[in-house]
Amino acid sequence: MGMINLASLFRTKLILTGDDQPEHHRLARTLGWPSLVALGVGAIVGTGILTLIGVGADRAGPAVLLSFVVAGAICACAALCYAEMATMIPASGSAYTYSYAVLGEIFAWVVGWSLILEYSLVVSTVAVGWSGYAVGFLKGLGVPFPEALANGPALGGVVNLPAVAIIAVVAGLLMLGTRESARINMILVVLKIVTLALFVAVALPHFDAANFAPFAPNGYGSTEGTGGVKYGVMGAAAIIFFAFYGFDAISTAAEEAKNPERDLAIGIVGSMLACTVIYLVVAAVAVGALPVAQFGKSAEPLALILRSIGQGGVATVVAAAAAIALPTVLLAFLYGQSRIFLVMARDGFLPQSLAKISSRGTPVRITVLTAVLVSIVAGLMPLDEIASLANAGTLIAFIAVAACVLVSRRRDSDAKRPFRTPFAWLVAPAAILGCAYLFTSLQTKTQISFIIWNAIGLTVYFLYARARGHAGSPE
Ligand code: ALA
Repeated sequence: MGMINLASLFRTKLILTGDDQPEHHRLARTLGWPSLVALGVGAIVGTGILTLIGVGADRAGPAVLLSFVVAGAICACAALCYAEMATMIPASGSAYTYSYAVLGEIFAWVVGWSLILEYSLVVSTVAVGWSGYAVGFLKGLGVPFPEALANGPALGGVVNLPAVAIIAVVAGLLMLGTRESARINMILVVLKIVTLALFVAVALPHFDAANFAPFAPNGYGSTEGTGGVKYGVMGAAAIIFFAFYGFDAISTAAEEAKNPERDLAIGIVGSMLACTVIYLVVAAVAVGALPVAQFGKSAEPLALILRSIGQGGVATVVAAAAAIALPTVLLAFLYGQSRIFLVMARDGFLPQSLAKISSRGTPVRITVLTAVLVSIVAGLMPLDEIASLANAGTLIAFIAVAACVLVSRRRDSDAKRPFRTPFAWLVAPAAILGCAYLFTSLQTKTQISFIIWNAIGLTVYFLYARARGHAGSPE
């Protein structure tokens, strides 16, 4: 390997926006701000509010509402930082690209490697969650589905076939082209919001304030319980965090935005705020409708609540709508993952031939590769812990983006910033400290897996990628 030139580790990249890319690597500009907000809401509202609300309630009690507030506030700070960086550097690649431009190559590599964890594991997690809803729905209709093909080996099955199948369908859609995908996404997003509104309308009359006591039976911090699980408001917030992200996926669409400077900020901040309001209403209604002990362990908490209050028919409708609309999360994250791989390949870190764009303007090879990798995880691994590991990767990316805001404000104070984070010297440090605290509130097992993942990443960097990377130039 020879001596490592230290300066090369911190070289930064002069970012090309999409229009500067050679034609065979250029993406088509088809997305306006409504599509971007829909892409954001489509990526955010998913397994977090539909399923993890139960896990959170089990760990925090009714105070899971505070977990939503804490995770939402931290994500709001991060979203503002993302909006600043995404409009300042409207190029594909999200946190990886910003880190390469601002912090230097080695940080970009670690962030890119963490983003792979975030995007892939969200796709795997949501596909497995989707499979649970879909199989449950089929059973409800009296259509049996073999257990062995509904679970991976860790849960006594062979492979989670529905999870693999839904990833194949979504990857196929993405290869058809971004505009077509955005249109279908918009319809599914509306369905998802209507479903949550239906839940609220039907469950609200059963609201009983007595269900809020005792409010925080496991305390307000995070305490380790059986199996290394962390209980309490902050322990739950570290998991509930999963529900909020997805707005960052919009930034991966920068090269396909028609008017990136304005629309990306609207898309990122708008979708994040809309989802925070929706979540707080749904969570308050859920906790008010049924004691948390009764739905905390359920794999389909919202449907269970509806059944328990005598609304079995509505529960079936909600389950069906969830199964139809949940793929929007898959769409956004699979899209984001393929774009991050694309940018890393363009930078020379991954084989160049992967970055080829098909005649429809989409990166087909990378989409197929990504889909195969996430299908393997989804088909074989159990759901628990995948979500928490996805959170670990995301938290690191959020910390990096907030650091990019601070470093670039100091170093490139004259740079053009179409969107400026308000009170940046408070908001960005709040995002960094908040994310770091949530990271420490994750299960120890997750933290160890994360360190192992990054050790592998750094090995790949020093043995393969560093010598081939050609994007950065020493300062
Ligand atoms: N926020 C997304 C979800 O809840 C990842 O599924």
